[in-house]
Amino acid sequence: MKKIGVFTSGGDAPGMNAAVRAVVRTCIYNNIVPFGIFEGYKGLIEGDIKELSSRDVSNIIQRGGTILRSARCKEFHEKEGRQKAFDNIQKFNLDGIVAIGGDGTFTGAKIFNEEHNIPFIGIPGTIDNDLFGTDYCIGYDTALNTVIEAVDKIRDTASSHNRLFMVEVMGRDAGFIALRSGIGVGAEAILVPETPTLIEKLLEKLRNDRTQHKQSMIVIVAEGDETGGALKIAELVKNLCPEFDTKVTILGHIQRGGSPSALDRVLASRLGNAAVNALLEGKTNIMVGVLHRDVSYTPFEKAIKHHQKLNKDLLNLAEVLSYN
Ligand code: F6P
Repeated sequence: MKKIGVFTSGGDAPGMNAAVRAVVRTCIYNNIVPFGIFEGYKGLIEGDIKELSSRDVSNIIQRGGTILRSARCKEFHEKEGRQKAFDNIQKFNLDGIVAIGGDGTFTGAKIFNEEHNIPFIGIPGTIDNDLFGTDYCIGYDTALNTVIEAVDKIRDTASSHNRLFMVEVMGRDAGFIALRSGIGVGAEAILVPETPTLIEKLLEKLRNDRTQHKQSMIVIVAEGDETGGALKIAELVKNLCPEFDTKVTILGHIQRGGSPSALDRVLASRLGNAAVNALLEGKTNIMVGVLHRDVSYTPFEKAIKHHQKLNKDLLNLAEVLSYN
C-alpha cells in the first residue's frame, strides 16, 4: 500500500474536509503518498487526480463543504465509465481508494469492485444519516444543529403572530433529520417517510393544540414524507383549517453547509484514520463507522441495503412530549 486516493462524492456534508484531512495525515504518517481525486467519480473518470501534501489539508478541519469538491456522476453508472476510472487508477498507481459519501457512493464502489480488484473503503458522509453500520454519518450532527438554530428563529416569529409553520427539512427518503430536529425544537408534529401521515389525526391534534391556547405551532416535514412535503401539507391544512394562519419554510441547502460541529470533526477524524488503517490491514469493500463508540466495519452490501431504521423510542418520545 504505497499510494492511496481519496474522494468525496454525493451531497456534500460538513465534516468531509476533516475526514479528507485525517486520510491524508494518516497516509503521510505511514509513509503512504495520498492523492486527492476531485469531484468524486467524475474526477476518477477524467483523471482529475493530484498528490496531496500535509499542508494541502491545513486549516480545513473547521470548514464546511469539501476541498475535493463533489459531483453526481452518471457516467460511472456505465461500464465504460468505470473502465476509464480503472485505467486512471492504474495510471496513477493507486493501491487503494477511500470514498467519502453516501449510499450512492458505496453502491458505485461495490459495482466497481465486482469488475476491478481495487481495495475500496467507504466513509459515511451524508447529512441524511441513512447508512446501516454506524450510529452517525459525518455531517448529520451539524445539519441537526443548523435546523434547530433556524427553527428556533421561526418559533420566535410564530409565537409573535400566533402562526402555524410547516418546516421542510432534507433527508431524501429518510426521516432522521426530521425526527431528531423535531424533538430538539419541541415540534407539535413530525412527519417522516417511515410512518404513515394521517392527515385527520394531524388536524385534530393541531385544533386541540389551538384550544389549549398554544401561541405557536411548528410541524417538521421530512422532504420525503408521503404527503409530498411542506407545501403540499400546508395547502391541505389551509383548505381544511382556514382558521390557522399557516406559513411554510423550506430550509433547503443551508442544511448542507456550515462549520462542522465538534462531534462531526472528531467522528470524521476517527473515520479518516480508520479507513487508511483498514486498507493497511488488507480490508476492502467495507464502510468504516462508529457503533456504540467503537470503530465498526460493515460490508458495502449491508451498509446500503439495510438502511438504518428510525428509532422507535424517539418516535414515541416525540409523541409524548408534544402531547398538548
Ligand atoms: O443526500 C443529501 C441531500 O442533501 C438530500 O438530503 C437531498 O434530498 C439531496 O442531497 C439534494 O441533492 P442536490 O444537492 O443534488 O440537490
